[in-house]
This record gives sequence, structure tokens and C-alpha cells, in this order.
Amino acid sequence: MGKFLILIVSVLIILAGCSNSKANGTAEGTKELVLAHNQPTNHPVHKSLVDFKERLEKKSNGRLKLKIYANGQLGSEREVIEMTQTNAIQFTKVSASALESFSESYSLFSMPYLFKSPKSYRAIMKKPEIQKAFFNTTEDNGFIGITYYDAGVRNMYTKDRIIKTNADMKGLKTRVQPSKTSVQMIDALGGTPTPMSFSEVYTALQSGIIDAAENNETALTDNKHGEVAKHYFYTEHAMVPDILIMNKDAYDQLTNQEKKWLKEAAEESTVSHEKRWDKQVKKAIETAKEDMDVEFHEVNKASFLKAVKPLQEQFKNNKETKEQYELIKEVEKNEQNKKFNR
Ligand code: GCU
Repeated sequence: MGKFLILIVSVLIILAGCSNSKANGTAEGTKELVLAHNQPTNHPVHKSLVDFKERLEKKSNGRLKLKIYANGQLGSEREVIEMTQTNAIQFTKVSASALESFSESYSLFSMPYLFKSPKSYRAIMKKPEIQKAFFNTTEDNGFIGITYYDAGVRNMYTKDRIIKTNADMKGLKTRVQPSKTSVQMIDALGGTPTPMSFSEVYTALQSGIIDAAENNETALTDNKHGEVAKHYFYTEHAMVPDILIMNKDAYDQLTNQEKKWLKEAAEESTVSHEKRWDKQVKKAIETAKEDMDVEFHEVNKASFLKAVKPLQEQFKNNKETKEQYELIKEVEKNEQNKKFNR
């Protein structure tokens, strides 16, 4: 999508917002809210956002309406966060990594091997005390977190290089999200980190600007990276959640009842997302293998863990993230004890 078109659409949205009454309301009391994100409409996260929209509109009897712009139509994650900050749009869904430069707490999610397993990650992320510890940290930036969506386990993938241990990453030009922690992680692993926005990855792989990237399996199929990257490695180095954020003023302007509908719709869509996600990841693996000739490999994970140990230690002692880190570990411990008690 050309920058010019993005600009025109953004201006139209802002103008539409201005012509409405204060809370983006219409004469009949309906509120029109706008959400933008960067995934295509066949992606599980988009489908879960549609689920959120449908639940919200149904619960509120059409009083709250949501318009979704998918596919990065309104810009990169950074750009849509900024639009959410100024209330040009009310919501966006971005990776927690993109929020790192607005609140350092979110950098924790890009810390390699923070969570023990996908199962414990989901259990932890759904806890209200965990969400509270992150979601309100961006209030001064003009937005808050509303819910999270599982965005899978992130793994390395390359055009042609075979990775067995982290030593094989030496000099590998690897795309990372524009996040300081992700840069530090690839550095620690011996690769050459190249931060860029998600929409640029396909062409960068194709043209050789990068040799590798890291993401969940749906990037191969839904985002077509498997057309150019033929090797996928289960390094399982991070589980970075997607976060639904909302402009703070727009949230404050909702009545208590509307806030309740919003919260319920968001939470329900987070839960329904899990099955949708698992199903689509399974399908992505099949499609990547069968139709795109992508090969899936196991790696020596111990070598990766060893290489990032100093970075993990740095996080454990970082004043800005210490509290959230300890909370996550405490919840994790309780979750494990629960299992043993059964
Ligand atoms: C995931 C995430 C996106 C993000 C992307 C990335 O797919 O869901 O929100 O943009 O990773 O690596 O940039």
C-alpha cells in the first residue's frame, strides 16, 4: 500500500472523526470506533478481531460500532500506534515488541525464553493481575491495553542457511521487529540484526537485504514468507503476545456499561482466538511443507539458551521490568503447583 494512499485514508478517517460529536458519537447515540492492524484478512488474529467486533456490536445492540482496517492499510505498527495515541483511530492491535519504545515493561516479552511453554504462557497472559501490570503503563502516552491475543511461538527461518546451533547464525542478516531487545537477542546469538517493519520483510528476503527472519509459522503462509524462505527452525526463542490497545480518552468517554461490554467482548475474543490459532498454525505447517517446500528442523536449543543467558540476567536485574518479571515467575510457579496438585 503506497504511502500516499495511507495518507489519504488517514486524513479521511480524521475528518470523519472531527465531523462526529465529541465521543465519536452520532445523533442516535451510536459510537463509531476504528481499529487498524497489519495482518491480512485470512490471518487468525484478524479473524479474532472480527469476532471482537461482532461481540461488541451484539452486546451493545449496535450502540458501539467498530470498523476494522486490516492489511497495514493505515500504516506500520509504529504509525498506527501513533494514530491511536492522537485518537485519529481508537484501537490498534500490535505486537508487544512494538510497544517497547512506549513503555519499557513491554520489552520483557521480547526477552528470549521468558515463558516455559505455550500452555503456561496462555495461562499467565490471561491473568488479570498480569494484564494490569502491563496495560496501564502506557496511560501517559495516551493509550491503554485492552486484551492480548496469542501470537504463537517465534522461531528462526532462513532462505537457505541450515542452523543447528547458534554458532550457525554467525553473520546471518536477520530481520527483527523494531525493538531494542530483539536487536540485543540476535546480537547475543551471533547474527546481524536488521530491524524493519513487518510489511517490508517479504521483499527484503527476496532481494537479499536479509537472509533470515523470525516469527510464528503463519508468517510462512498467511504472509507468504515461505515462498522465499525455505528452512524453518524450532528455536522457540520467544512468545511475544499481540496487544489490543485503545486511546485513553476514547475509553474514558465510554459509559460504565459500554466499558463492561467492551471488556467482555475483548476477553471472549481472546479465549475464542486460542482454538482458531492452533488450527491455523497446524494448517500453516501443512501448507508450508506441501505447497511451498519449506523444511522444518529441530535445533540444539541448549546452545541458544546458553548464548542468551547474559541477556536474561540483564532483564532479571533491570529496575524497569523487575516487578513484572517477578510477577510472571510467581504466577508461573502457582500454575505449576496447580498441575502437581491434580
Ligand atoms: C507477529 C505479530 C505482528 C508483528 C509481526 C512482526 O506476526 O503478530 O503484530 O507485526 O509478528 O514480526 O513484525
